[in-house]
Amino acid sequence: MAEILQPGADSLRKVVSALTSGEVVALPTETVYGLAAVINREDALEKIFSVKARPLIDPLIVHVVDLSSLMKLADVDDVLFNKLRALTDAFSPGPLTFVLKKKKGVSDKITAGKKTVAIRLPAHPLFREILLQTGPLAAPSANPFGYLSPTRPEHVLESIGDKIPYILDGGPCEVGVESTIIDVSGKKATILRPGAITAEQIEEVLKEKVEPYRPLVSTDPTAPGMLKQHYSPQTKLRLFTEEEQLLNTESFEERGKGGRVAVVYLSREAAQRSSYQKEEIFWLSEDGSLETVARNVFDLLQRLDGLHFDAIYFQVPGKKGIGIAINDRLSRAAAKFRT
Ligand code: TXA
Ligand code: MG
Repeated sequence: MAEILQPGADSLRKVVSALTSGEVVALPTETVYGLAAVINREDALEKIFSVKARPLIDPLIVHVVDLSSLMKLADVDDVLFNKLRALTDAFSPGPLTFVLKKKKGVSDKITAGKKTVAIRLPAHPLFREILLQTGPLAAPSANPFGYLSPTRPEHVLESIGDKIPYILDGGPCEVGVESTIIDVSGKKATILRPGAITAEQIEEVLKEKVEPYRPLVSTDPTAPGMLKQHYSPQTKLRLFTEEEQLLNTESFEERGKGGRVAVVYLSREAAQRSSYQKEEIFWLSEDGSLETVARNVFDLLQRLDGLHFDAIYFQVPGKKGIGIAINDRLSRAAAKFRT
């Protein structure tokens, strides 16, 4: 079983030495916990895929400490460099990943054979300290492929703890959903995955239009991270909006069968207005703040998944700001239960 390491000089030494000798280790980032490996060892990169049972066609994100380290991995002309500098000045370190043309030396294991590489500058101080000693680290979320993303060390321990030596405890993740991915390798900047940093915020910095996120409706396996069905819990998950809940209070089919149903609201206030008597009621924030909802969404889903309800009914926020990212993760988590 993995050892959960508390931050400190000793722990950092252990983590750095494991990484440089080709082990994979779970590390905290501000978004979700990552499963890290050095990028210059093929065996270490392969371990990421085997620990996660992740298909090799799903490319990894490389984490670097600053823009000059990014420049060593990507082909960037002057025009793009200026854009990157503006974006990193505004948002980095932080939850924004750039898809860029890769330099030759970047392993095909990382890019899944693509000509582009995804790179971000993570904000968590522990991750940054480690990067200074190891150099760039490839790190997908530290969960089994297709399951909910980990936002606390326990989530990692429960799901892949038997397959890795260490989990560095950096506390609960501040953002709670994965980074925004923006493809800047082509003519028009395009959001590939919504996150805490929105298209509007990016447009404001770039002073140009950004292609907004368009969810894939297919099950095209060329980018499994973008699959319609992803992040799934084991318990049946159904989503409702505030309006639906008001209109259709009898719609919970599990209720009629006498099943145990959990109902999750965005705010305490919404939970208190709930008309459900028999169900167990939960809420994600006191006041409906979507930042708080994002921070708690994967944690609550994982806790509820462990409580073996017959169904979890989950309120989704409006598609605005970080609500777009929360909506995206929840609708993919619920996709396999949709009939
Ligand atoms: O917040 C995050 O980004 C977290 C933390 C650990 O940094 N990482 C993360 O990694 O979410 P992962 O592997 O769960 O998701 C990475 C996704 C891939 O599934 C793929 O969709 C996209 O990033 N990606 C990676 N490289 C790409 C590329 N060259 N072109 C397009 N998409 C790419
Ligand atoms: Mg992931």
